[in-house]
Amino acid sequence: ALERTFSIIKPDATKRNLTGKIVAKFEEAGLRVVASKRIQLTLKQAQTFYGVHKERPFFDELCEFMISEPIVVQVLEGENAIAKNREVMGATNPAEAADGTIRKEFALSIGENSVHGSDAPETAKEEIAYFFSGLELVG
Ligand code: CMP
Repeated sequence: ALERTFSIIKPDATKRNLTGKIVAKFEEAGLRVVASKRIQLTLKQAQTFYGVHKERPFFDELCEFMISEPIVVQVLEGENAIAKNREVMGATNPAEAADGTIRKEFALSIGENSVHGSDAPETAKEEIAYFFSGLELVG
């Protein structure tokens, strides 16, 4: 089915001027960018967005990293967009990511792993709504 998913190009990637190369990977996989903006998160916004991870040992490090530089938040649309995006990103840990994936090519570590993508339809919906209004989604 035609789906939408939420994507973040993370600080390690924006800092190294990898935004275009990462977007090209999404587009080559058939994902269309239907919303996009470059923002810098506040600590509160990062903590809210990653709320499900607040008991994890890496939570503070994760939030500090996510506010360290601008990020690019996007909505990607396509057939099975959630699974397709996860395939193009590769495994969370770049050491385990398959050849040709974004994380294999660009990620520095499990934390500085260049991209985030929604893991399921319900989280995609929540994450999109956290960053975008309906008017900003142009399919
Ligand atoms: P993301 O998809 O953005 O969702 C949660 C993030 O936590 C994940 O990508 C990783 O970048 C990060 N993460 C997971 N495990 C670790 C870890 N052990 N140390 C630091 N960050 C982590």
